[in-house]
Amino acid sequence: MSANIVALLYLVSAILFILALRGLSSPESSRRGNILAMIGMTIAVATTVVSLHITHVTSYGAILAAVVIGGGIGLLIAFRIKMAAMPQLIAAFHSLVGLAAVLVAAAAFYHPEAYGIASASGQIETASRIEMALGIAIGAITFSGSVVAFAKLQALVSGNPVVFPGQHILNLILGLVAIGLIGFFVKTQSTEVFWIMTALTFGLGFLLIIPIGGADMPVVISMLNSYSGWAAAATGFTLENTALIITGALVGSSGAILSYIMCRAMNRSFFSVILGGFGGEGAGPAANKGDRPVKAGSAEDAAFIMKNAGSVIIVPGYGMAVALAQHAVREMADILKEQGVKVSYAIHPVAGRMPGHMNVLLAEANVPYDDVFELEAINSDFRTTDVAFVIGANDVTNPAARDDPSSPIYGMPILDVDKAKTVLFVKRSLAPGYAGIDNDLFYNENTMMLFGDAKRMTEEIVKAL
Ligand code: TAP
Repeated sequence: MSANIVALLYLVSAILFILALRGLSSPESSRRGNILAMIGMTIAVATTVVSLHITHVTSYGAILAAVVIGGGIGLLIAFRIKMAAMPQLIAAFHSLVGLAAVLVAAAAFYHPEAYGIASASGQIETASRIEMALGIAIGAITFSGSVVAFAKLQALVSGNPVVFPGQHILNLILGLVAIGLIGFFVKTQSTEVFWIMTALTFGLGFLLIIPIGGADMPVVISMLNSYSGWAAAATGFTLENTALIITGALVGSSGAILSYIMCRAMNRSFFSVILGGFGGEGAGPAANKGDRPVKAGSAEDAAFIMKNAGSVIIVPGYGMAVALAQHAVREMADILKEQGVKVSYAIHPVAGRMPGHMNVLLAEANVPYDDVFELEAINSDFRTTDVAFVIGANDVTNPAARDDPSSPIYGMPILDVDKAKTVLFVKRSLAPGYAGIDNDLFYNENTMMLFGDAKRMTEEIVKAL
């Protein structure tokens, strides 16, 4: 295959990847986005295999066997995975990308001639040493960091932040030593330095992720996603493969942008997430306002109020995901619609615990896309809405984020559910959400608390309707 044809096919796959990212920006077009990405990846892999000048049939056999075994395992996992286990699966996949980057760099280090990166003297060219060292460092951090993220999310270890005095200083020193070792390796091409640098960055990935609480993990996963992209791009330079460089850069930059968007929607600085210590069980300054009166109602009360409403906006949050209440919610919405009530869903960008968490759950329950609105699109509708039905959401509705400059979440955009005529709040208690901050909305005149498990309460409302 001529170099021009290879370049052209890589260009086609790169364009398909960009279109795929565009498609993934909305639940409606995400399936199309996934298909485009699959076509792009097939073109990229096939072009690479065909252009390798492989002469032995057995080599093709080995590549095919690897594709069938690896692809088969991937397919099996994809079919079996539960939606709620998606974040840890993504963490596990990222760890493989990191490990692959380390292994490719190690192979290139020991056999530079096979990669065409050896100079006439047999030394590895300087540019290749830089790419190799970066691939190792980013790959190793991605690998061990992702393994820790996986273990926390899979509850193999506690999800609580592991913190100790001097932690950040230690990480900073190790980071600086790693940079020094990269420089030293580039200069000397020493085997000892190569392996010390590898071991140190493996350890650094571990230390960087242990202080991060389970609930902050989605931001970290997205950040590790970004790292895995840059590790792949570094590998692409070593292998002189433009498709890998482009794909790695796309993954690297989209992961970084997603981390930024998440942090902004949580009104947290990226550094406060990375430095960790937040989001463990019982984290945060929960204020005790238990002595203030709240209005509590039953499923029958809720059914009566909603049946007689002109419009209802459903606001799902983390509790709906935990209770797996999405199917019951859709059933409730269907009945209300049949009775002439206008029903829509409002999605906050960080409702739940991972990007698109609520969109995925609602799509799984076959909620029509046309009924689902993002924060900016629906927020102004609350003031003309009869009922805001908040199910398992808390922080994303907390008026303190809008009105109280002293609140730790001040500045985080919220869904203005308090502007609705009546707010129905389904949750089990007055306990705070992820941010650990009490929500004044529970005590408002126009709020009725529906205490109970989200699924059970919604099913009872359905019965009462
Ligand atoms: P939260 O503020 O965490 O509130 C969830 C509420 O659900 C809790 O107050 C809890 O109250 C209730 N709940 C739990 N289990 C329940 C069940 N079985 N039935 C009924 N209710 C249940 O959730 P949110 O409003 O979705 O906000 C998300 C939070 O997570 C934000 O602070 C956000 O910054 C943070 N965060 C989000 C992300 C992403 S990307 N989405 C990533 C990291 C962090 P009870 O215990 O009283 O039932």
